Amino acid sequence: MARVFVLNGVNLGALGTRRPEVYGTLTLGDIEAILHERYSEVDFEFRHTDYEGEMVGFVREARGSDGIVINPGAWTHYSYAIHDALEAVEGVLKVETHLSNVHAREPWRRHSVISPAVDAVVAGMGPYGYAAAVGYVLGGA
Ligand code: DQA
Repeated sequence: MARVFVLNGVNLGALGTRRPEVYGTLTLGDIEAILHERYSEVDFEFRHTDYEGEMVGFVREARGSDGIVINPGAWTHYSYAIHDALEAVEGVLKVETHLSNVHAREPWRRHSVISPAVDAVVAGMGPYGYAAAVGYVLGGA
């Protein structure tokens, strides 16, 4: 059974009510339920935190798993700590995932310090982006 960590960072706990015109109306719980249903054969570990150090711990915890799907929220744009944590986890497929198309928004959102430490990046697909990221981890399932 594939084991996949789905990690959501700062402010993503507010999904559902946070800027629905940008991030949609589904909550994080809704997205997790969709993933569970769609990939019932996967052993998911869902984690959310607003604390950067805790996220570093979650990334380390994912060592030995099959994949990390991570939406770092605003940490995407400046957290070298999360970059370094991801870089240190070897042999695990890593996908940076964003609900919104960060490239079509404010200029500061176009730069990710996380991208060099991951295998793939998904942006602008809304909640489906998480499913696409998990599919990639599973090898196109
Ligand atoms: C986000 C994009 C980030 O720029 C933003 O800070 C977020 C969410 C996204 O999912 O589109 O919190 O990662």
